[in-house]
Amino acid sequence: MTEENVKVAVRVRPFNGREKERNSQVIIDMTGNTTSITDPASKDVKKFTFDFSYWSHDGCKDDGTGYMAPDTSHPNGKKFADQKKVYNEMGAGVLKNAWEGYNSTLFAYGQTGSGKSWSMVGYGVNKGIVPIYCENLYKQIDEKRAAGAKEQYEVMFSMLEIYNENVQDLLDSSPSKKYLNVRQHPKSGFYADGLKSVPVGTYAEIEQRIEEGTRNRTVASTKMNATSSRAHTIVTIKFVQKSVNAAGEEMAKSAEANLVDLAGSERADSTGATGARLKEGAAINQSLSSLGNCIAALAEIAGGKKNMQVPYRDSMLTKLLKNALGGNSKTIMIAALSPADINFEETLSTLRYADRAKQIKTTARVNEDPTAQLIRELQEENEKLKAMLASGKMDMSLLENGEGGADMTDEERAKLKNELEAEYKGMLEKNKLDMENMEKEFQKRLQESQGQSSYKLIAEINEKKKTYPHMYNLNSDPQMTGRIIHFLVKSDSTMDDETIIGNGKAEGTDLTLRGSSITDMHCKIMHKDGVFTLETFPNARTLRNGKPVTAETKVLKNNDRLLFGTSQFYVFCNPKDTTPSKVTDPTFEMAQAEIAEKSGGFDMSGNNKSRDESLLQQDLIEIMPGVEEANSISEALGKQRRFDLVIVSPEARGEMTGRTEVMVKMTDIETKHEWFWNRQKFLDRKCLMSELFDKFEDGVDVNVPQDKDPFYDDPKADFHIGSVKMWLQSISYMLESSETLDITDFKGSSVGKMAIGAYPCDAKGKEYTEKDNKFVEDPSKLVGVPVDFKVKILNARGLPNRFTDVYCKYKVYLEEGFTQSKVMKDTINPDFNHERVISLGAGTPEIVEFLKTGAFTVQIWGKQKDMKPKGGKGGKVLVPKTSTVVPGGTIHAVNDNVKRFDPEKVKIMMEVTALKKRQEKMEQKLAHMQKMIAVAEEHNKRKLRTALIKDIYVAPTNDQAEKCIKLIPLEQDSDDEDGGGIVGGSKVVGVVIPQNKQDISGGEADKGGVDGKGTKGGKKGGDGNKNSDEESKKKKDKGHKGPDSDDDSKKKEVKGHNGGRRGSHSSDSEDESKKKKAPPSHKGGRSGSHSSDSEDESKKKKAPPKKSSACVLL
Ligand SMILES: Nc1ncnc2c1ncn2[C@@H]1O[C@H](COP(=O)(O)OP(=O)(O)OP(=O)(O)O)[C@@H](O)[C@H]1O
Ligand SMILES: [Mg+2]
Repeated sequence: MTEENVKVAVRVRPFNGREKERNSQVIIDMTGNTTSITDPASKDVKKFTFDFSYWSHDGCKDDGTGYMAPDTSHPNGKKFADQKKVYNEMGAGVLKNAWEGYNSTLFAYGQTGSGKSWSMVGYGVNKGIVPIYCENLYKQIDEKRAAGAKEQYEVMFSMLEIYNENVQDLLDSSPSKKYLNVRQHPKSGFYADGLKSVPVGTYAEIEQRIEEGTRNRTVASTKMNATSSRAHTIVTIKFVQKSVNAAGEEMAKSAEANLVDLAGSERADSTGATGARLKEGAAINQSLSSLGNCIAALAEIAGGKKNMQVPYRDSMLTKLLKNALGGNSKTIMIAALSPADINFEETLSTLRYADRAKQIKTTARVNEDPTAQLIRELQEENEKLKAMLASGKMDMSLLENGEGGADMTDEERAKLKNELEAEYKGMLEKNKLDMENMEKEFQKRLQESQGQSSYKLIAEINEKKKTYPHMYNLNSDPQMTGRIIHFLVKSDSTMDDETIIGNGKAEGTDLTLRGSSITDMHCKIMHKDGVFTLETFPNARTLRNGKPVTAETKVLKNNDRLLFGTSQFYVFCNPKDTTPSKVTDPTFEMAQAEIAEKSGGFDMSGNNKSRDESLLQQDLIEIMPGVEEANSISEALGKQRRFDLVIVSPEARGEMTGRTEVMVKMTDIETKHEWFWNRQKFLDRKCLMSELFDKFEDGVDVNVPQDKDPFYDDPKADFHIGSVKMWLQSISYMLESSETLDITDFKGSSVGKMAIGAYPCDAKGKEYTEKDNKFVEDPSKLVGVPVDFKVKILNARGLPNRFTDVYCKYKVYLEEGFTQSKVMKDTINPDFNHERVISLGAGTPEIVEFLKTGAFTVQIWGKQKDMKPKGGKGGKVLVPKTSTVVPGGTIHAVNDNVKRFDPEKVKIMMEVTALKKRQEKMEQKLAHMQKMIAVAEEHNKRKLRTALIKDIYVAPTNDQAEKCIKLIPLEQDSDDEDGGGIVGGSKVVGVVIPQNKQDISGGEADKGGVDGKGTKGGKKGGDGNKNSDEESKKKKDKGHKGPDSDDDSKKKEVKGHNGGRRGSHSSDSEDESKKKKAPPSHKGGRSGSHSSDSEDESKKKKAPPKKSSACVLL
């Protein structure tokens, strides 16, 4: 027994065509066995270490045979890992294990298209690990045999697929094949009951078996238009060495190599408006998520965590991989990576997954036992099982986890008993088969299986397609492209011919294609004098190179892409047509992109696209055909659902971050209920729809219960009506703001208004008033100060009538959970009257930045009312012609009614409001200072204490300022620095009180300890010496207008207060103009330095230098 860690390798592939077209950036780097990934946005680099890091991105060239070999002239040539290197370091070890009698498992993990199959199976001459493993296995067997080895060697091959938690035998091509049950054997663990394990005698046979399995996979997937990358494929090669030991016993050393090509790991989508992921979505990817859970649990166990349950039983995949993950197996994982910046999130998550996997430990043992003993054990066990089945007494303890059934109801007990009975019968059969395999001569079994194989037929087809005109399938998985061939001529490829394509329901068709929107008589491909033409029957939808084929006959050219119905993609291929075609190697993606481009009006070129735009484009290409198909299936099954594609910005989804995404809106045509599905939910549902449609085509009853119906969604589920974004800039100045803002829905249209506000307050929620004097001129002053404010959601007005039970929810800054308002029934004008104190704690630069530039989103949710017209009951309602399916026509992506909600506008509006308030505050201060000067002049005060000036300056209200100003006449006027200058024991800083307009703007203090900072324009000079009572009086009369000034400040007091409190961004233009008319002498000065009044500014500059007659303050 050897305990060892799972070995983990990562491998990065070259850019694919689209990535190159987009000028993608490489975000992966590898040095030694360290792999680093760079976040394209932040440029942060994360490093991971694995057992192997394979650089297969660049540094290679075609060696002339199509094989990608290292290019020694390239800077990365040395580190380039070709297929051979990967095999030598990873696959060869698996083969060594097999010879030694250890089980091995090698699985490939990674997002769709990341290169899993390239590493596992390979493409053409670039053979992957599986074929090289098999090739070398036979090579070594032959070498041993040639060297006179006495052992007998037996190789058995099986191939299965797990799709949507159904296990299929890929070597079973019979039309009546069933899904396999996964059962548990007390000794060998979980196994797929009834899985064919065929003897194979040569490498060529294995190759053909793989081809047979892949073709069966393709047929199944094409029939249902299943997304191949959601399937897991497990190839098992069992290698048995039989020998006779010294005691004369026959020994069997056996080893299983499981080569697992996992389904593509899904993108981490935002959950969008639909909230938690759907149950059935989880079911589709259940195997993959269970694998993740098992790996996480095993990693924790390896890290020392006790009493941890590993949830193997949660999925078919984890049951079948139980040994590989935590038992008798040496295990290797290859994590396939995309190099492109566009896939950063997925690639990072793959790296993290791989990082966890490397902690897992398995304990492999050599499987070597005397055959006789094995047979004896199997016999004994079968006797036991038979006895148990006969007596009806089941040994519950045989089930894992000791499901003894102590606290079960009778019904549960009976159910479990039936399950156990099936389990035992399965075990009995398996044991019998194992015994047979041990006893029956391998050669005989081999001959039998060779007779049954269909691979000879495949070889013939492959030969024929080289010269005969045909169509071959296009599949999203390139491994499955070209596996289905339909010849378009019969016995003699030169004879005129015609092929009628239909869904198999009508008489007289030559070729049956299954799939939605394929009609009984769909279209006809004619061959006359070497020319092929295509003609469609009425109401049948066929696209040629992305455009609908209309009544007029079309000539087919080599490499033309054809779409029959909504999902059957083919390429027309005429080996006899030697005229060069524009497209040389059509791919599935290309065929989808040209349809999206031609029907939806989307720009599908890869040029100059940002990462988010590229992702959006990728989603469109992926989802558009699915929407079409969903509509078609809905119509065929009479489901009364319509599907539309919508493009939704994060703001419209009510999210603060994220990218613009494609969503699908499902509408109940009868009740008008709507549901918005995110990409993942739609794709999951679409898979289930295809499956349902497949059953429908087979004549199976498709009236499934609600929880299995992909067209069902909860009409009572909460619906995201719209959202509102509230900016918090005013809070960064500790000013309140209350607004009436548009509520925008998914499409960016206004669906009502919301009255909302943010109010500075203390931690207990007491709102600050003017008197509290919390206004800050600069938000950075909030650093270190407690920041609390109150959110008030007063009401919404004019919501659409089709909603009830309306409520709001929101979260602010780093809050994790949403806060919800009360729920308001049956009103389009709900009064939420919700308020809550948000305490951000002591301000940090981050918090200040958030307040200055950030916002929070309030989402408005409700329930949809049933809008079914009164009296209208049931009945089949057809999908209206406005749907996305138009026979023979185009896709109507609803991008035309997508309005982009412009958050920038709202942001600017709020900024302006905050700025206005700030300006009001500053002007209020300025007015106080002006009045202070006026009063000082009036009372002929040459000096004022700084403390008093400060009191006036910081006075939050006019009243308070007024009180301080009233103290001016009482101020002592003294030149004595040491005497009057010291207040309360501390020395006050001197300030010049300018005595006339010029002085205010530009006078230089010439006396007594003025520190130069005292006046803004002080350095500019000016002989402010003329200080006489007369002059100051003149000023009072002319420039100052004492009474006017009073009036003015009164006006300001009213306005200032209201403005501040109400926080309205109502136009203050009247007031504003009055202010502007105010005498210039009111402006400028020290406190006026913030003023942006350019007129004043220029006057200041133009003012002649004058000696200041100002007093000097200490
Ligand atoms: N190392 C490589 N060198 C050259 N081409 C590669 C390499 N890896 C992958 N590719 C190409 O990238 C494409 C996607 O690779 P592959 O089919 O292996 O992905 P996958 O991970 O198996 O995807 P899926 O999840 O859809 O099965 C293929 O066209 C393949 O030829
Ligand atoms: Mg693959």
